[in-house]
Amino acid sequence: MNDLSFAAGRRKPDTLYHQLAEDLAQAILAGRLKCGEKLPSVRKMSAQRQLSLSTVMEAYRELEDRGLIEARPQSGFYVRAATAFATPALTQPPQTPSSVVTQAEYWPYQSGQIADIKVNFGLAILHPDHFPLQSLQRLLSQISRHEPELLADYGTPPGDPELRRHIARRALAWGGQFEAEDVIVTHGCLEAINLCLRAVTRPGDVVAIESPAYFGVLQMLESYQLKALEIPTHPQTGISVEALELATRNGQVKAALLLPNFSNPLGCLMPDENKRRLVELLNERNIPLIEDDLYGEFFHHGERPRPAKAFDKTGNVMLCSSFTKTLAPGFRVGWVVAGRWRRELEKLKFINTYSTSTLLQKTIARFLENGGYDHHLRKLRRAVADQLACGAAAIQRYFPAETRLNIPVGGFVLWVELPAGINTVELLQRSIGEGIVFAPGELFSPSRSYRNCLRICCIETWTTRHERAIQRLGQLAQALLDEQTELTIPAA
Ligand SMILES: Cc1ncc(COP(=O)(O)O)c(C=O)c1O
Repeated sequence: MNDLSFAAGRRKPDTLYHQLAEDLAQAILAGRLKCGEKLPSVRKMSAQRQLSLSTVMEAYRELEDRGLIEARPQSGFYVRAATAFATPALTQPPQTPSSVVTQAEYWPYQSGQIADIKVNFGLAILHPDHFPLQSLQRLLSQISRHEPELLADYGTPPGDPELRRHIARRALAWGGQFEAEDVIVTHGCLEAINLCLRAVTRPGDVVAIESPAYFGVLQMLESYQLKALEIPTHPQTGISVEALELATRNGQVKAALLLPNFSNPLGCLMPDENKRRLVELLNERNIPLIEDDLYGEFFHHGERPRPAKAFDKTGNVMLCSSFTKTLAPGFRVGWVVAGRWRRELEKLKFINTYSTSTLLQKTIARFLENGGYDHHLRKLRRAVADQLACGAAAIQRYFPAETRLNIPVGGFVLWVELPAGINTVELLQRSIGEGIVFAPGELFSPSRSYRNCLRICCIETWTTRHERAIQRLGQLAQALLDEQTELTIPAA
């Protein structure tokens, strides 16, 4: 399968640093040192092995060169995922818009087939251990004890002023230039996107989306009788702005709904220059951009990527996000900054659900006020990056050769392209019997492309249970591939 012998098998002259590097390489490949795990500091290793600091440093540098570990600034050395599989290419969806008919029957969470999940790679909802539940619980009970009147209050439709102020203030970090009054609090990002679609489209309109695209978006398009135009998307750099330019020439596209930061399921991140061109293009053509920035906080390294909204000078971008993935999935608190559709959105929010629970909004606002959010996010990002690296390494160890894998620089979902001919709906039917769930590729495309693809969500701390589940998925995929080969070889 996956050839990692370059890292383990080669013995160089027996210098002390080569010996140490070899020992560590063996430990990594045997899984005794796990992806994302921190190596002992140079000083500690030097004391443990009675080697000089420079010898240990040389060994670490060698492992870094071999792609087995990586240095993280001011933190130390960590085991890195192997990078043997090629990345999937730019996608090539059909060039014509299509009506959306989603396939809930393939999605066990909706079709009720989830009796006994042992390993959940299916839902993009992080494990409860990732959230500061006790702090939230304490705040929630303090607020309801001291302000019981909130339990009897509908609240104001655009949202709690304190929370809206925090959202606007936090956006300053990426150059967001809007006021608290511009923020409308919603029931999660889903309500935000729903309201945006209702504001700027009518049944029969065409909406440009990434390809593959989040299936929740496809379900929304279906329910509003909107047509989807899938735009070719690169797993690393996001939608092709050139393709979008061509697709929007004839005036058929009435809105674009995109995730420039760590899209779901590809995990791609549009470079700033592409975001700027995207915003300018759509503004020139008077096509509103509904931007889903749900995963923007999940960068693994460096700085928070700027949303496309940062390049918006005319209010043509409607920015949607929530605290679902970052803080409190159960609160269902999200928001939208709707630019020039603000009044329309306020009206729609009023009609749709009037307001979002004031108690929950206030709890989040107090959590932000207390200053623990950034610390929590830093911890969360580290954990998620480690989980993703472990998932990617396991896939590369156990999936069939010729698999393609995108390892994104943010988020916690992996997009895997299996060899052509493997049907991942069939793979799911087999794996679900063993309690292993993932999302098959077909779910993410109205044209039912991506039959040989799957999305793996790395939602919890990686353990041998996950490792074995990926190994089993790899075996099941290989078996499907072998069956297919047998079918295509004519009998002698
Ligand atoms: C891309 C994307 N947008 C929106 C949502 C829904 O967000 P929320 O849970 O805040 O409503 C999800 C949930 O998984 C998602 O993946």
